[in-house]
Amino acid sequence: MTQATETPSQALPPSAPVLVIGAGAMGRGIAQVAATAGHPVTLYDLDAAQLDAAKAAIERDLASGVAKGKIPAKAAEATQARLTYTQDFRETAPLAALVIEAIVENLEVKKTLFRDLEALVAPHTILASNTSSLSITAIAAPLTHPERVVGMHFFNPATHMKLVEVVSGLQTDPAVAETVQATARAWGKIAVRAKSTPGFIVNRVARPFYGEALRLLLEQTSDTATIDAILRDAGNFRMGPFELMDLIGHDVNAAVTRSVWEAYGYDPRFQPSLIQEELVRAGHLGRKSGRGFYDYREGAHNPAP
Ligand code: NAI
Repeated sequence: MTQATETPSQALPPSAPVLVIGAGAMGRGIAQVAATAGHPVTLYDLDAAQLDAAKAAIERDLASGVAKGKIPAKAAEATQARLTYTQDFRETAPLAALVIEAIVENLEVKKTLFRDLEALVAPHTILASNTSSLSITAIAAPLTHPERVVGMHFFNPATHMKLVEVVSGLQTDPAVAETVQATARAWGKIAVRAKSTPGFIVNRVARPFYGEALRLLLEQTSDTATIDAILRDAGNFRMGPFELMDLIGHDVNAAVTRSVWEAYGYDPRFQPSLIQEELVRAGHLGRKSGRGFYDYREGAHNPAP
């Protein structure tokens, strides 16, 4: 791990506009975190249904915080008022101090988006990616100013998970990484610095956690519920590997495994599992699609433990 350089750095002020690109599981949580910290936030997605679902999820989460007495009703209202949802970021991008991308885990798609963004944003705008595993150096490479690109890797759900990996590519300006780290801290997160290597810290360490569990299943050593229960109850993990993969989404998790595998020269340690590839092909993506290793649909016989 690259140790944080403890030079004091300024967080972006709460008045600084934030644009979040991608309103899926991660983007909606990140948007909520930034809006809770006081920023005016625009949440963008190509897909109107995803924006509607994101708005509903944020409203539900805030309402539940109010009902539990964790958030004052007025603060929840103010957070909602700071959020705008859009299918067109051309007007808001030039105003943004920070853009956080949380779209599909695909290098070419992310590179195209960052190139398009650079043509729209102001010279001082920081461009951050929430990628779980892809090279920040590669995402930044086609840009005229790659030094403004940095990884800002939140964990799922972003509203509750404290950790953020702040990832520097080869050309990232250290001052940009420091500002993002200070900003994440101002948002109540534990922000650690990492160099851009495949999977960074957590996803590199986590690959064998999933990979070995999938091998156990393939070899019919045990079943998902038993393995999850052992890891959770006896191993003191918060979630077992199968319920955690269902939460992450098999499309996302398989893409991360593939990208780490490729980046390490197809090292067999990181080889994607046939089981996971089949789940993706079937559209059984986990909680978000209603089925994965477990069944989350109403009346299901095989719910997560
Ligand atoms: P998701 O599948 O829930 O959401 C992705 C969203 O991006 C969708 O709403 C989709 O419509 C939108 N999208 C796709 N291509 C787009 C484009 N070109 N322009 C605009 N919007 C586009 O995915 P999720 O889970 O939110 O992951 C997003 C990113 O965050 C990925 O890079 C993933 O590796 C990373 N990540 C995921 C975590 C997880 O546990 N799911 C944890 C931490 C990071």
